[in-house]
Amino acid sequence: MEDKKNDVILSIRGMCKSFGRNQVLDHINLDVKAGTVMGLMGENGAGKSTMMKCLFGSYQKDEGKIFLDGKEINFEGPKDALENGIAMVHQELNQCLERNVVDNLFLGRYPVNSMGVVDEERMKKKASELFRKLGMTVNLTQPMRNMSVSQRQMCEIARAISYNSKVIVLDEPTSSLTIQEVDKLFEMMRMLKSQGISLIYISHKMDEIFEICDEVSVLRDGKMVMTKATSETNMNELISAMVGRSLDNRFPPVDNVPQGVSLSVQHLTTKFEPHLQDISFDVRKGEIFGLYGLVGAGRTELLETIFGIRTRASGRVYLDGKLMNFNNAKEAIEHGFALITEERKANGLFLKCDLTFNTTIANLPSYKQGVALSDKKMVDATKKEIKIMHTKCMGHDDMITSLSGGNQQKVIFGKWLERAPQVFMMDEPTRGIDVGAKYEIYELIIKMAKEGKTIIIVSSEMPEILGMTNRIGVMSNGQLAGIVNTKETNQEELLRLSTKYL
Ligand SMILES: Nc1ncnc2c1ncn2[C@@H]1O[C@H](COP(=O)(O)OP(=O)(O)OP(=O)(O)O)[C@@H](O)[C@H]1O
Ligand SMILES: [Mg+2]
Repeated sequence: MEDKKNDVILSIRGMCKSFGRNQVLDHINLDVKAGTVMGLMGENGAGKSTMMKCLFGSYQKDEGKIFLDGKEINFEGPKDALENGIAMVHQELNQCLERNVVDNLFLGRYPVNSMGVVDEERMKKKASELFRKLGMTVNLTQPMRNMSVSQRQMCEIARAISYNSKVIVLDEPTSSLTIQEVDKLFEMMRMLKSQGISLIYISHKMDEIFEICDEVSVLRDGKMVMTKATSETNMNELISAMVGRSLDNRFPPVDNVPQGVSLSVQHLTTKFEPHLQDISFDVRKGEIFGLYGLVGAGRTELLETIFGIRTRASGRVYLDGKLMNFNNAKEAIEHGFALITEERKANGLFLKCDLTFNTTIANLPSYKQGVALSDKKMVDATKKEIKIMHTKCMGHDDMITSLSGGNQQKVIFGKWLERAPQVFMMDEPTRGIDVGAKYEIYELIIKMAKEGKTIIIVSSEMPEILGMTNRIGVMSNGQLAGIVNTKETNQEELLRLSTKYL
């Protein structure tokens, strides 16, 4: 195995790809050695996913050659790729939510027995072996719909691994995994490496790149601008390569001044799992309130309960002293609440529509001219948000699905900015967003706080929660374990509180 280590297993030469007038990949070269992990970084829209989709056969490249193990390959589609040694975990989960875990694992390749009947027992056995290797306990017969985003992501990873591929592409696989799950994934990746399998690992998280990758490549505006061994580079060099400038600080100064109490949550309790128990806290006008906790602690549920899309058993929510009692999202929105959800594809976007529709949909009445909707007003608003958010696109009439993952997220942000809500709740708002754009979003959040908005941010990223908030509420197992001042707390205290009721 050792002597194979320096052999190039995958080689991409001069790959080009355009969508209409938009040249997304410009003569890309990449070499991946056997039994190593190649990191792939770059700003939102740089072309990372497109490059990998061209490799995987989901897109057809315009120019260039791909060699696997010395032989030129050209896959007609993903099935072809999977059968010939390349697997990929996509950035956007693509699962059949109504089907169970086992079905999803074997979708498109059900094993059959000698009678030609689907061999369910064999599927189950193979599936449980796989999950055992991954160190996961999963109820194999439950529908995907009942699983958390992170569990579903682990299932996708298990599926990719199950093909016995030579090269596995992971496109931002950890964006919704817990720390423990990331550890398990890395363990698995190290095991695959030791078997001579190569991995291409796309991530915006620097510490992960340095932990798991042997080499790292950076794409900028469709060009490959750097490839180096991770031991020979550092964070600043990577950031400069990605954004073309260096960033001195990861967070802008949090210099907003919170005022009087705006939102008051009192004794909130829910009936259904995961069960929230007696949660009370206040958030001030102009304050950025963080919610930290381990995955499953109930942070998303808390936001959803305040927003009225999860049933309360008891408890009250007041805004500026007035009792709020919503039964659905529409009522919440009408009362000045906004919620940016964690699972954007399912809840936040209209995939068959363009940017204008997706930007204006939550706020239609304000684009009226007389009784009819004014196209001009809607387009102007969309252009404004594209500019504020620095959304990378060709124009306001692009289809939302033609944007890169991170840029789709900026559109959702823009939609809620248009609404100008009083209470802005965000669930993992910078997930999948590159370092430069994160900074811009942080600036926007602080600006909103200064304008007197009430802001709640759920984040699993410790630096973000410590770098971007005034106070932090820590949840543990459905309860509020404590509220701390951000300036006076640290990582250890947050972790300690997050395990208080386990
Ligand atoms: N199907 C498509 N049709 C038209 N344009 C597309 C399509 N897919 C991608 N693009 C464009 O290609 C460019 C690169 O997108 P890509 O998804 O590869 O970026 P990325 O580097 O993966 O970004 P992110 O970090 O946000 O995931 C973007 O400008 C995007 O708008
Ligand atoms: Mg991408």
